[in-house]
Amino acid sequence: MSPFLLTRTLPENTTAALRADVLRGLTRTPKTLPPKWFYDAYGSELFEQITRLPDYYPARAERALLAAHAADIAAETGARTLVDLGSGSSGKTRLLLDAMPDLHTYVPVDVSESALIQAGHALAEQRPALNIHALSADFTTGLALPGAPGPRLVAFLGGTIGNLLPPERAALMSSVRSLLSPGDALLLGTDLVKDERRLIAAYDDTGGVTAAFNKNLLTVLNRELGADFDPGAFDHKVRWDETHEWIEMRLRSSTAQTVKIPPLDLTVDFTAGEEIRTEVSAKFRRDGVRRELAGAGLELRHWWTAGHMYALTLAAPVAPPPAQTSLPPRADRP
Ligand code: SAH
Ligand code: AVI
Repeated sequence: MSPFLLTRTLPENTTAALRADVLRGLTRTPKTLPPKWFYDAYGSELFEQITRLPDYYPARAERALLAAHAADIAAETGARTLVDLGSGSSGKTRLLLDAMPDLHTYVPVDVSESALIQAGHALAEQRPALNIHALSADFTTGLALPGAPGPRLVAFLGGTIGNLLPPERAALMSSVRSLLSPGDALLLGTDLVKDERRLIAAYDDTGGVTAAFNKNLLTVLNRELGADFDPGAFDHKVRWDETHEWIEMRLRSSTAQTVKIPPLDLTVDFTAGEEIRTEVSAKFRRDGVRRELAGAGLELRHWWTAGHMYALTLAAPVAPPPAQTSLPPRADRP
């Protein structure tokens, strides 16, 4: 079996980070909670179920794109190390890994330790020559990667970049850029702007799996912070924000109610119909992706789409301008 190492870089006390997010998010108007707290073991399992829903097209579209282009990506990048941000089950990443038989190190990065362990052990059995160095880490709070040979390919798949707000996206792009040297690359999965009905259906399945995923956030707060949310007293709501071009998931309080969160000494009042925004899922256009990459010093090299539903982008650090070795033409001199 290949070496499987797990490094924890999450703050010693993850609960402190959760407390800070909950205090900030539930004392402001409108109320919000960050989506990274969805992913305890049950939340990660629910997300896997979502990827199998007929209406949740992004996972299938990305899988098809990876199946079609993994060989090109492997050849073009010549990657020896693959970093996988928000790796989850690493399911789709397998398509990339299969196209990279000589890969030296795979670095899955996720806040869900259960997902990392499950995926890491399964992969270790199948790829005995591959070093697997999993990082249990929050990719929004800086990334410190283990030493591993270049070229590096950083993959950020699943459309997870869309779950960050624009300033968070810019910060993440810059932090990814700082990990890349000349010859390294970023592979980015982004869901695309499309017909509103199609978008809503992907986040509001009739079987209620996405609703359960959304409400699981309240269960996480009950377990981790001793809160007394009644998940049955909140409804799963989805809306398309045309201005920001993102889907919003919300939890709407079905009645006026009060929730206690003892460790924060916090009592949260909800009016009937009041909502907590639990996730944004931004949808992109080619030009926006190109602009956001450029803002971080990255240039778009390839843009592959599946029926204009979803896109995979291969990007690389912008080459630094060549060092000036001679004087500019006479006319430009001061
Ligand atoms: N890449 C996989 C999983 C996508 S689901 C796929 O395409 O199927 C999003 C994943 O990102 C989850 O596993 C979740 O735990 C992880 N995640 C969300 N926010 C994160 C953060 N801030 N830092 C690290 N991982 C995060
Ligand atoms: C992980 N992320 C890209 C998913 C999305 O589509 O925004 C999370 C999700 N939320 C509801 N369904 C899936």
